[in-house]
Amino acid sequence: MSPNSEQEISHLLDQAVEAGKHALAPYSNFNVGAALEDELGEIWTGCNIESSSFGLTICAERVALVKALSEGVRSFKRIVIAASGENITPPCGACLQLLNDYAPEIEVVLYNPDSAQTRKYNLSDLLPHPFKFTDYNKNVE
Ligand code: THU
Repeated sequence: MSPNSEQEISHLLDQAVEAGKHALAPYSNFNVGAALEDELGEIWTGCNIESSSFGLTICAERVALVKALSEGVRSFKRIVIAASGENITPPCGACLQLLNDYAPEIEVVLYNPDSAQTRKYNLSDLLPHPFKFTDYNKNVE
């Protein structure tokens, strides 16, 4: 990312990292934070919340998204996902699906605070052939 656009979103990068500090991740020990910016510039944060029944775990991105959706927000600009480690962490398939359902035009910024690396994508780069309700609806008589 160019230095200018990084400066522009530096507050979002920081909020994603802060959000990750609230993660409840005793099983993976992998904290993830998300900062979702809506069309009006309001920021909705989320962290991953794990369950002893592992499949019930909720990712940071989905927490941020449902917080905003449940408050009536319907239009989104970008989401920053912050996670430490050796690599950069992209959203899982479930998060990509939900983002596509409710924020198909969103910009996705992946951030690794350890290396200070950022990578920016359109959602369609990460999920080029999304399942849509219309695909299902075609088969309903
Ligand atoms: N996780 C997220 O919160 N977001 C991602 O983009 C990838 C994975 C969480 C889920 C789980 O708590 C932990 O990371 C390990 O999979």
